[in-house]
Amino acid sequence: MTPVQAEKRLVELRAQIARDDELYYKKAKPEISDFEYDANKRELEDLEKQFPQFAAPDSPSRVIGDDRVQGFKEVAHRQKMLSLDNTYNEAELRGFHARLVRLIGTPNLTYTVEPKIDGLAVSVTYEDGRFVRAVTRGKGDRGDDVTANVSTIKTLPHRLHGVAPKVIEIRGEIYFTAVEFQRINAERAAAGEDLYANPRNFAAGTVKLLDSTEVARRKLEIVLYSLGFCEPAVVESQTDLQKKLKAWGLPVVEKYWTVDGIDEAWAAIGELDRLRHDFAYGTDGAVVKLNDFAQQRDAGTTDKAPRWAIAYKFKPDTARTRLLGITIQVGKTGILSPVAELSPVVLAGSTIARATLHNEDEIRRKDIRIGDLVEIEKAGEVIPAVLQSFPDERPRGAQEFDLFAAVGGKCPVCGGKIARLEVAAEGAEGVAWKCQNYDCAAQRAGRLGFFCSRRALAIDGVGGVVAAKLVELNHVQDPPDLYHVTLETLATLNLGTTEEPRIFGEKNATKVVVAREAARELPLEKWLYALSVPDVGETTARELGRRHRTFAELASSPLLHAVLKKAELVAQREWEAPASRRNPAKSDEDKARRKELCARLEAEIAALDAGPLAGVPADIGPAVAGSTLEFFASAPGQRLLAKLRALRIDPRGTVPTAGVFTGKTLVLTGTLPRLKREEAEQKILAAGGKVSGSVSKKTSYVLAGDDAGSKLEKAKELGVRVIDEAEFLRLLK
Ligand code: IVH
Repeated sequence: MTPVQAEKRLVELRAQIARDDELYYKKAKPEISDFEYDANKRELEDLEKQFPQFAAPDSPSRVIGDDRVQGFKEVAHRQKMLSLDNTYNEAELRGFHARLVRLIGTPNLTYTVEPKIDGLAVSVTYEDGRFVRAVTRGKGDRGDDVTANVSTIKTLPHRLHGVAPKVIEIRGEIYFTAVEFQRINAERAAAGEDLYANPRNFAAGTVKLLDSTEVARRKLEIVLYSLGFCEPAVVESQTDLQKKLKAWGLPVVEKYWTVDGIDEAWAAIGELDRLRHDFAYGTDGAVVKLNDFAQQRDAGTTDKAPRWAIAYKFKPDTARTRLLGITIQVGKTGILSPVAELSPVVLAGSTIARATLHNEDEIRRKDIRIGDLVEIEKAGEVIPAVLQSFPDERPRGAQEFDLFAAVGGKCPVCGGKIARLEVAAEGAEGVAWKCQNYDCAAQRAGRLGFFCSRRALAIDGVGGVVAAKLVELNHVQDPPDLYHVTLETLATLNLGTTEEPRIFGEKNATKVVVAREAARELPLEKWLYALSVPDVGETTARELGRRHRTFAELASSPLLHAVLKKAELVAQREWEAPASRRNPAKSDEDKARRKELCARLEAEIAALDAGPLAGVPADIGPAVAGSTLEFFASAPGQRLLAKLRALRIDPRGTVPTAGVFTGKTLVLTGTLPRLKREEAEQKILAAGGKVSGSVSKKTSYVLAGDDAGSKLEKAKELGVRVIDEAEFLRLLK
């Protein structure tokens, strides 16, 4: 490779890796496999070694991937959180050992071999034995404070057992079990929502939710394995640490090996590879660590990683098969997603006939064509993905895939117009094609399934297949039409075929009818979320629901108009600023005039902030305001509102009135004897209070029911007042 070629490739690789880092660490939605990512990184490192003249201090090879996102407080780690060097090959692992033998000056080195857990790295701090903080790795020296979310993890003790050091930072990994991951993904599938690709992304996405009540509904787990800062230093080796972690009552790895020399380490890695599929967490390798802490100190670290440890990564399971075709699915928002139809092949124990292709850009980037021999990968619980094609073995005449042409320029479901748009929504990053027809059957069915999903109106039983059938038979156009479907129609609904009927049945139908009636009483926030208003997710719906009394009020919301007005004023102020880069002042006179104008704009903005926008969270920004107002003014929005009126469904906002809980924060835990969780939350909000997912010193009351767990403990520890349902109801009176 010539220096010119090398420089060009370096620029490409750095850009690609930076993009993949962003997707992996910040968005928890990687588009390539870890294996491909590691290969790019390795290529970058090798090139930088070979052509040191093109070194860059900010190259992704030198810095730790940054997971920080907006909305969290940043906290410094007492000791930097490093990453690990990794390898996929035995020779390099032996090279690691040889280097250490030289560095430490003895051939007799003891290592531990541990599973490498595929989750999200966190550091938890205990002071005087009490859990005080959890922070993500961030960029190594400082990360996001995710204490509230990590506090929802039941297996993480709030107090260490036995004697604990004054201050200790312990590093570990947050993960989801495969069972919990599948449970939630099944729920999401039933609701027509985007699926998470794998438990790791899901865990990372969950830890970065701003709403800990939602986090508490998902069962996160944690495992701890490494030491950060510790004062006084009470741990002498990794084996010692493992024992102490356990004695302190912390969740630890299911198995680790203490071995002498690299041959034994290699044997342990083999054994781990055989056992790891039965572990509760996903594993993608083994971590080999020098056992003795004094030796670790001698070996030292680089800026990025310790010299005393290495990750040996297992290659993911892959297989080769033919790509028979690419079909296009249409989701609830109308986005067209390509799916690989494969010649069935057995991979990681299951038969795979379909795999995700993400989007058209990716198909192009990987040069995947129908008829190609392709390599597919399935790592852990990941939805199978197409890794690469083999152009050398391509059948003659195979054409580049063109999504627009493949669907004949129209939606494959409804035949409607499609348009190309930039999407930054969940799941589909980049550019996508979207069906423009709000009344497309796929969109209708997607919206109906979503409307009935747990987190929306919880009308159980109306998931993917049932929703699609109701739409197909024209029983439902818009979700509220579900109220007109009779019990009999539901009971006799055939979900199968004429030859092989599968009848929905009386029992299921009755459940639906009961649930839909109960849903009438749900608050505005739930209904708003359930109606799939563009840009309005759960949190936004909640915030809007707390600030509007009815749909009618929301449709012409003065608050949302104020949000838009402010955005306009801010843009104008930026444009008119005398030093504006795009529109600099032309003369002193112009400057003076604009200065005055800006002061006036500033005052108007301040008046909005102090008036209608006081206390309005960032969730309700111009994008949300614009799309909400636009939606309710549009024909589909008006049609929905008319249908709700005709059904006499008029859900109420939870506008906090001053009440007994004004200014108070409550935490719910355990099962209450009479009230459902939702109902209790409702009452708290209606009485002016706030609901939080975790207990802190600022909590006013913990409302505890049966089987209350760590939150109750925490409340007692912090001296927070605990009340039961009876007392709660008394207070409300
Ligand atoms: S030790 C200073 N042990 O893998 C080194 N890390 O790819 C501290 N990881 O940043 C890390 N399992 O987030 C260690 N048993 C284990 C691990 C482990 C998973 C993570 C950790 C690390 C990343 C590197």
